[in-house]
Amino acid sequence: MTDNQLGPEQFDIGSAATPQGATAEPQRSGKPLGFDVGSCHIVACRQADGGFSTQGQLNAFFELPYRKFTEDLLEHNRISYFQDDGTLIIIGDEAGKFALVMDAELHRPMRDGLLNPTESKAQWVVRKISEMLVSRPEKLGETLCLSVPAVAPEQEARLLHHQAVLQDMFMSLGYRVRLVNEGHATVLAALADNQFNGIGISLGAGMCNGCLSYFSVPVLTFSYGKGGDFIDRSASEVTEMSVSEVRIIKETELDLGRGPANRVEHALQIFHDHLIRGVLQRLQQAIEGTTNLPKIHQPLPLVLGGGTVMPAGFLDRFRKIFKEFRFALPISEVVLTEDPLTATARGACLAAAAEEATGIA
Ligand SMILES: Nc1ncnc2c1ncn2[C@@H]1O[C@H](COP(=O)(O)OP(=O)(O)OP(=O)(O)O)[C@@H](O)[C@H]1O
Ligand SMILES: [Mg+2]
Repeated sequence: MTDNQLGPEQFDIGSAATPQGATAEPQRSGKPLGFDVGSCHIVACRQADGGFSTQGQLNAFFELPYRKFTEDLLEHNRISYFQDDGTLIIIGDEAGKFALVMDAELHRPMRDGLLNPTESKAQWVVRKISEMLVSRPEKLGETLCLSVPAVAPEQEARLLHHQAVLQDMFMSLGYRVRLVNEGHATVLAALADNQFNGIGISLGAGMCNGCLSYFSVPVLTFSYGKGGDFIDRSASEVTEMSVSEVRIIKETELDLGRGPANRVEHALQIFHDHLIRGVLQRLQQAIEGTTNLPKIHQPLPLVLGGGTVMPAGFLDRFRKIFKEFRFALPISEVVLTEDPLTATARGACLAAAAEEATGIA
């Protein structure tokens, strides 16, 4: 394989949902780094001037048959690609734009929150996209904190493999790699004012991940094996629309706070409701199944992050369904994180900073 790295965007052929602030310049500042390799997006985050600097790319690739003319055009427009076996492989946000314009399939290196075992180029593509966002550290051994999901026992082999591959990848770049659960990262990103007491749930594309944190210590973690991809696939199955068409409507038009305007909006509402109930059931089971819960009398906030919370009206819908449930712990309120698409990476960045400050993982 050969590769050809990109520069500033010059070839604007559409839009793809990408975390805010995303650019194509690798970060190299020597500060602790948070990294979120998600089923839909890869996001890197460093602390910067009292805030955060985040950059993201779509975790996807698009294949074109090799033609010298096409390759010249990609080069001319400084679009990131590599060549493999008679194919031009475009990666990251640009891949999303090509798929949109050409109405063709976008390949995804990850499925259900983990590396996709049926996608032979998965590891290679994730590495290439990650290298668009971070370069080697200034000093060997800088801390990079990587978010990882909590998965059901039957997925344990996939999780161990996923973690080991990504850990090796960042170690080979020269980082000291630490791991943080994705739900825990959501608490770290959003609940500093509450001394990191509360429940964080990240509702992503492949899955949802939750954590109950007590003074920043993860007391329990859980996951639910559905996310935005499930919503898109399911709504596509019951309408005549492709998965991409459904996703675009979901990301640009859907308002869960009003009555559905058409069949696809109706289907999207049904599957959002199903997902919300599934997540709350898993939270309920996780709380009930944990024997050594701290005796918490102060009601805890529940904070939601991840791209699946983004449609207008999502929070009200979640709060309404939340009232159907009884929990063995008092929950004070349900809120959204700021900038839900970067919350996991920001939380991972804080975990990396804490790790550097204390030396404790
Ligand atoms: N504006 C939007 N409106 C509705 N949904 C959105 C919007 N933007 C992104 N999404 C959805 O959010 C999901 C991606 O969220 P996110 O980037 O948090 O997932 P991820 O972290 O890559 O996945 P995972 O954590 O499950 O591996 C996709 O299903 C996408 O369609
Ligand atoms: Mg995620």
